[in-house]
Amino acid sequence: MSKKLRIGLFGYGVVGHGLYDVLHKTKGLNTEIVRIAVKHREKKRDLPAEIFTFDKNEILNDDSLDVVVELIDNADEAFDIVSTALKKGKAVVSANKKMIAEHLQELYDLQQLHNVPFLYEASACGSIPIIRNLEEYYDNDLLDSLEGICNGTTNYILTKTSEENLSYEEALKQAQQLGFAESNPTLDVKGFDAKYKLTILTLHTFGLIIKPENIFNFGIQNLSVADSTYAREKGFKIKLIAHTYRTDDKVVSYVIPKFIKPHDLFYDVRNEFNAVQLGAAFSDKQFFLGKGAGSYPTGSAVLSDIAALSYNYRYEYKKVKQNGAVPFSNDHDLNLYIRYSSENILDELKVHDISQRFISNNTKYVIGKVKLSNLIKVKLNDHIDVFVAKID
Ligand code: HSE
Repeated sequence: MSKKLRIGLFGYGVVGHGLYDVLHKTKGLNTEIVRIAVKHREKKRDLPAEIFTFDKNEILNDDSLDVVVELIDNADEAFDIVSTALKKGKAVVSANKKMIAEHLQELYDLQQLHNVPFLYEASACGSIPIIRNLEEYYDNDLLDSLEGICNGTTNYILTKTSEENLSYEEALKQAQQLGFAESNPTLDVKGFDAKYKLTILTLHTFGLIIKPENIFNFGIQNLSVADSTYAREKGFKIKLIAHTYRTDDKVVSYVIPKFIKPHDLFYDVRNEFNAVQLGAAFSDKQFFLGKGAGSYPTGSAVLSDIAALSYNYRYEYKKVKQNGAVPFSNDHDLNLYIRYSSENILDELKVHDISQRFISNNTKYVIGKVKLSNLIKVKLNDHIDVFVAKID
């Protein structure tokens, strides 16, 4: 039997609003949003004023509420709310990937210490039910790899610029208007958002808790006409891909643009859609596709967590508890296309095994190998005249 849940909601923005709507359109759920904590008093809202509060403690101290759903933008405030709620023994649902990724260890410890569930399906790849699948279906050691398009905004920009010739700025503006982009879109375009999601997915794929700063991310902010032309001439599309996989002796995780060939399933993933491809020893490749951003798709993932709580579901983190986990490492070579203007960057990156070199008046690129640890060291996202993409 499902139990009745009384919910205190934090945030009534794009996702909070989406959750409210999908919850009220879903029949048979024994749940009620009793209170909504919001920040701005002056904002006009489409619900009766009595449901809103501007004081977080009206939810956190209310013993009649069993579930806190945290859907605010600010990661620090979100951690404060979520950790307080867990300490008070409330079940918590969150979609805040930055907050979760930055506090994975503490949030894991709080769940164990207070014996409370904390669910966050909506934090990675929006509507795709990937975390619960990794937890429940792939709960053994047979997974070898996870690759994903985990950011809707960048996939939207890449689709609109390549298929409709929209400018980068116009495509980003549309993604913002549609509610896909972060309030600070740098997090999207430089690959941070995808990295936060990858940090969470690496935990549920391989049982490893890794600090986001140890995972390399590079985005699409420096993509130039020369890079798009190179891709088009070779028949590739460029996609921002989050990777985590196991080699013989380690697990590696990173976010980087990649040249995708036409037969690859990621090739046709368009607009704000996300996709995840798992590689496993016996089932081989499996592919999940779904909307990764937006009010209702994300709201539906939050709703699914709430429904799971009504049946007392919680993550067991069996992979974390298994002994003999393979260690995480950045001592790993990637084969990269590197478009650059100053030769210094090739020295700093210690590019080796160069297989191609192109120099014209306007463009210079090489294809060669670089260690992940060197990519992290040179802070590639801070360079405005370099673009790198993985090439198989
Ligand atoms: N900014 C995020 C994206 C929102 O574009 O994917 C969903 O996490």
